[in-house]
Order: sequence, then structure tokens, then C-alpha cells
Amino acid sequence: MLESIQNTQSISREELDAILQTQDSFLIQELHKKAQQTATQIYGNKIYIRGLIEFTNYCKNNCYYCGIRNGNTKADRYRLTTEQILSCCKTGWNLGFRTFVLQGGEDPYYTDVKICQIVQEIKSKYPDCAVTLSIGEKSEESYQAYFNAGADRYLLRHETADEEHYRKLHPQQMSLNNRKNCLKVLKKIGYQTGCGFMVGSPGQTVDTLYQDLLFIKELKPEMVGIGPFIPHKDTPFADQPAGTLDLTLRLLSIIRLIHPHVLLPATTALGTIDPKGREKGILAGGNVVMPNLSPVNVRDKYKLYDNKICTGDEAAECKACMAARMKSIGYEVVTDRGDYKV
Ligand code: SAM
Ligand code: FES
Repeated sequence: MLESIQNTQSISREELDAILQTQDSFLIQELHKKAQQTATQIYGNKIYIRGLIEFTNYCKNNCYYCGIRNGNTKADRYRLTTEQILSCCKTGWNLGFRTFVLQGGEDPYYTDVKICQIVQEIKSKYPDCAVTLSIGEKSEESYQAYFNAGADRYLLRHETADEEHYRKLHPQQMSLNNRKNCLKVLKKIGYQTGCGFMVGSPGQTVDTLYQDLLFIKELKPEMVGIGPFIPHKDTPFADQPAGTLDLTLRLLSIIRLIHPHVLLPATTALGTIDPKGREKGILAGGNVVMPNLSPVNVRDKYKLYDNKICTGDEAAECKACMAARMKSIGYEVVTDRGDYKV
């Protein structure tokens, strides 16, 4: 079965069910091994690092799972100034980061003009770097303006490709159609585009996951971000169970096999549910890690879920820690923009 998935780069609903349900540890080991080999054939033992800058935790949306949702009145809100963002980039640049990921809630304070200014300033100071934006659903005009300002990549997890499941995770005002459309527009404009979803989000089933995989095959994104859902105490999903390490690793491997060139991070959420989660994510087919470059005094405030790791460490410590972790499993973090390899 694994050979067929690998050779055809596709998976049937039945094969997905079999892989997600099996207790056969040998089969799962083989799955991870094949995925890891696929990644190393394309990217070698190089791991790309992205400097994550969480620049605002204000958000106009109210996603039921998210700790910085608008309805969470307990969230301690902050915004970084352009100077603060540039200072994070400077620190990151000196540490060898060549990709900066600007992530935030959907915060209308950052108008298109402001976002374009920030992107332009980063690109003019660090022409060899890539800028990734992850700031939610915008109009085609806005996406085009950011692209013209120099943004290279855009991360927008689709969250789930199943309409009914999407409704369980989001209030009525939000729409899966719009989210999918945003992703198509981003690709059309020329961004290296990332979709993705949480593993184990409330209401997720084999069927919804199968829809996610079909959507990935259809969109052909350059990046896919998946990590476990982890509850946040001040959200409607406070009492829901977290997604598991095992399921996340199985899905990382499947995604690598059906979409081999994808840039696939071992996420902070994976490191949060297991102390060696990121190492295990790489050994299951991941090839990207995203250490935090946000100022330490705001780290704890960008709390999407409880018990988030690395909230107290300076950027240099995070980078050194990540390099050591990757070295311990035979990989090397590299100073490189880390673009998608066709
Ligand atoms: N506002 C932007 C957007 O909507 O794409 C980017 C920020 S949003 C917080 C980034 C991602 O965090 C979401 O796409 C979601 O998958 C993830 N996330 C939010 N709450 C989470 C939770 N409780 N557990 C794990 N991941 C979560
Ligand atoms: Fe907007 Fe989570 S609800 S970033």
C-alpha cells in the first residue's frame, strides 16, 4: 500500500482510513521512513529555518479554537511598531535567518499601506531575504499590493476543506468558500502559497481529512502547515481534547508522500504536545522549523493555545536550541531563503 501511495502520489479514502486506524507499528515506521527519504532526496539533510514575528494579537475574527479571537476579553493585546519589527529582523538576520514570517490576527490597524511599508522596509534593508505574510483573508487588490511591495510567500491555512466541519469551527460570518478562493488568488498572483489545518480539531473525521488531502492535491501549495489542535482555556473549545502526536506524524508523512516537494514545517504546536515533537516531525518527513523572533515581552501574549513553548527564550537561544535539536537527529539548519524546489 505504501509503495502505491508513493508511486502514484495519491491516496484513496480506504488507504487513508487504513493508515490512520492501524495499530501495526511496523507499517507506521515504514510510512515515516519513506516520507523522510522522500524529503531528503529533494532537500538533503538541510532544514530551513523561518524567523516568526508575531506582530499583533488583535483580531477581528472569532474562530472558536483560537486564543486570540476577538471574543477573548482576557487576552492582553499588543501591536509591534515598524521599528520593533525591523529590530526583530535585524536580530534574525545576524543569526542567519533569511526568511521572516510576519504573522498576526486580522487587525485592521495594519492597513494595506502600513503592511506594504513594513514589507518594503524589510526588503530594502535585507534584499536577500524572503518575506512571508500570514495575516488572514484579504481582497485580491490587497494581496497584489503586498506582492508588489516585495512579499514572497503567504500562509493561510484552510483549516478544513469540509463545509460542515468548517461551520463547527467558525462563526457564521466566515466562509470556507472565501478562504479557498483567497488561496487560489494567492497562487495566481505568484506567491509561494501555504494552506494547512489543525490535526484533531473538534469534529474532524477521516472523511474531513480526506477532503483536506484532496484539496492539497488540487491547490498544489508550495507549503502546508499542519500541527495539533491544542485547547485554549478561554475559548469555546476549552474542554475539547488536543490532537495527538501520533496522528499528526502520520499525516505529515502522508502529505510528504502525496505532495513530495512541499515545504513542511514541524510546528511549535507539535513541540508543545511532545518535548521531541519537532524532531519527530522532521523524521516523519518535515523539512522546515520556525523559531520565534518576536520580542520576549510579547511572546506569552500571542497565545493561540495553552502551554505554548519557547515563550521565555531570546531569539538567539531559540536558534541555537533548534540547531542543536536538528543536529541531534542528523540534520543541519541552513542560512538560506529556503525556497520551494520544483
Ligand atoms: N490570522 C491569520 C490566519 O487566520 O491565517 C494567522 C494567524 S492564525 C492564529 C494562525 C493559525 O494558528 C491558524 O491558521 C490555526 O490553524 C492555528 N491555531 C489557532 N488556534 C489554535 C489552537 N488552539 N491550536 C493549534 N493551532 C491553532
Ligand atoms: Fe483571528 Fe485566531 S481568531 S488569529
